[in-house]
Amino acid sequence: MQECHFILLGATGDLALRKIFPALYRASLSGLKPTITACARSPLSTQEFIRHLSIKAKEYVKDLDPTAWESFTTYVSYTPLDLTKTKDFQALKATHPNTIIYFSIAPEFFAKACQNLAAVGLNAPGVKIVLEKPLGTNLASCQEICRQISQHFKEEQIYRIDHYLGKQSVQNLFYLRANNPFLAGLLGASYLDHVQISVLETLGVESRGGFYDPMGALRDMLQNHMLQMLALATMPANTPIEDMRQVKLEMLKSLKPLNEESLKTQVVRGQYSASQNFKGYKQEEQVSPNSQTETFVALKLELDHPNWQGVPFYLRTGKRMGASLVQVVFVFKGPTQTLVYTLQPQCSLKLQLQGMGALKSALDAGMDAYERLILEVVAGNQALFNHQNELEAAWSFIDPILESWQKGLTPLLSYPAGGFGPEAAFALLSKDNRAWITHV
Ligand code: BG6
Repeated sequence: MQECHFILLGATGDLALRKIFPALYRASLSGLKPTITACARSPLSTQEFIRHLSIKAKEYVKDLDPTAWESFTTYVSYTPLDLTKTKDFQALKATHPNTIIYFSIAPEFFAKACQNLAAVGLNAPGVKIVLEKPLGTNLASCQEICRQISQHFKEEQIYRIDHYLGKQSVQNLFYLRANNPFLAGLLGASYLDHVQISVLETLGVESRGGFYDPMGALRDMLQNHMLQMLALATMPANTPIEDMRQVKLEMLKSLKPLNEESLKTQVVRGQYSASQNFKGYKQEEQVSPNSQTETFVALKLELDHPNWQGVPFYLRTGKRMGASLVQVVFVFKGPTQTLVYTLQPQCSLKLQLQGMGALKSALDAGMDAYERLILEVVAGNQALFNHQNELEAAWSFIDPILESWQKGLTPLLSYPAGGFGPEAAFALLSKDNRAWITHV
């Protein structure tokens, strides 16, 4: 049994209820013994909070064992807390040498929360903080948030989450090549024509309009999850595990910045409109009826890296798509031969060779991403978390795109909910004599 103390800020929020508590519960089944102080603004008693949490658990925890759940909740207490009030933090104590403070709150509160935690001594060596994405909305705001946090916490105390890095299927983008040297040879510039990365969701913005509308698909998915996938899929296959963060950073730094011309011709932004009984994005809860926020983005990029010269990467992500699918397709030169690695909904690898039937193999997707990452924080292992430099490198690539959009250089195109994005997303490939490959 490994003991630890979690202080969860933002405990009544969607992420905490949907992902973090279920992950803590599962971790408790496999030997973690966490005491949890749940904090949020609502003036609830512990009993009221646990009642609410238990209702949500029935919805969000698969195979919930009522007895095990009951025993898990005896270690949960609730403390009402206003993140801006120092005196509220006095109720919090580090009750265990392994104390972890999880920020499941909007990033604009990160700095204030850090300052208040420090004011009550909750930044002592050994205390760890876990920060949810997004860290900032551009390079400058990311740097500013990181600067403020670093006034109170040292780098070895900070765990910046990108939950995709907790997915075994995402890590396998590296291990696929690292463990199979023959594949590492094939999956490179000599044999590849291009690579496609798709993260498609059938979900719309659901009840998260308030969070999503100022954000959009580029900041919500591409800046973090997709660029991390790209880095893992392209980093040299002989990278030692301990150098992973450093080498991912090199890959992110090798992203060729889009120039004025490519910003116009290589980036597509879209927003879903009402169709097939789905509301349009502008009609969603907490979304401005004039919103100019993109719910879809597709782009073409290249890496300035010796292993990847001349190999274009096409990325696309969107909400309210015709399929839920996370997929990386390696397309080889010559007649259609592909290696399709599907990460979600089911993890599989499919090799399509010329003149042969496809060979397909199902893979094990592994432990839930949040559970895995929580166990890594408890163990004090930062390898699966982002270094500030990685975030900065990713924002440096994204910033010019955001700026060109603000100048109105890329039109916001509408696409029907339940489809696969605007026509221009298909043209992005067809003008290069290529096409999106979608293996559902
Ligand atoms: C989150 C985004 O980071 O990732 C959401 O904020 C998105 O908009 C989610 O739905 C997708 O994660 P997963 O694990 O369901 O693929």
